[in-house]
Amino acid sequence: MEVIIRSSREEAEKMTAAMLATAVETKPGCVLGLATGRTMEAVYAELARLHRDKGLDFSQVCTFNLDEYIGLAPDDPNSYRYYMQEKLFDHINIDPQRTYLPDGLNKDIKQEGPHYEAQIRYRGGIDLQLLGIGEDGHIGFNEPLSSFASRTRDVTLTPETIAQNSPMFQRPEDMPRRAFTMGVGTILEARRIVMLVTGAGKARVLAAAVEGPLAAIVPASALQFHQNAVVIVDAAAASELRMQEYYRWGFENDPRWEGYR
Ligand code: GLP
Repeated sequence: MEVIIRSSREEAEKMTAAMLATAVETKPGCVLGLATGRTMEAVYAELARLHRDKGLDFSQVCTFNLDEYIGLAPDDPNSYRYYMQEKLFDHINIDPQRTYLPDGLNKDIKQEGPHYEAQIRYRGGIDLQLLGIGEDGHIGFNEPLSSFASRTRDVTLTPETIAQNSPMFQRPEDMPRRAFTMGVGTILEARRIVMLVTGAGKARVLAAAVEGPLAAIVPASALQFHQNAVVIVDAAAASELRMQEYYRWGFENDPRWEGYR
């Protein structure tokens, strides 16, 4: 795992978007794993801008989102499908047939996970997975104690997650208590992972995930197993990291990051 500390939230967001854009330019038919949440909004706005102003071409790209609320229809303004259309898909030239999210309306709850995994395999697996982190350490909706070997499945959200996300619902009490999520094991199969974490509110959980022990109680700590994971953070989110100076030094001195400095 590598940690990259940018001085501002905007720089962290821009760098994340630039890494996704480079992945698309390098492999026009790449498969991207996408995340939702407030953290990603500026990343998607920047990708939409790169499409509009620089002609970044998404026509061959395929996307798989991490998760979706159980019981919400695609046109429900609180669904993650709606979020993705509004924040990204409606602003770029992506083929709708190539954008996947779990089907929140699938009544066959136990069938949705294996079906989603089959779709990921059919498209060749995920080249680059974008991740955020929940205040309880979740990735996707893999809540504390999710097995590091877990696969795409239905899960029950923690009260902490409900407190974190329900303010985004017009009526907070409408937030579903359950969701479909890619598993931790599914996420770890992505060829490359980029996690974006911003804001002081995430500093403690970020330190636990990055520098703490591997533990299912902090699902994001599973990224320590991945051979090609980069965590991009702003100074506020980095504030509780013990090895900050080393991470900054690494970024300044590694030729791979030259184009991003
Ligand atoms: C949500 C999503 C996660 C996201 C996280 C952070 O619940 N399921 O994929 O990374 O919570 O959200 P935010 O960026 O709003 O803090």
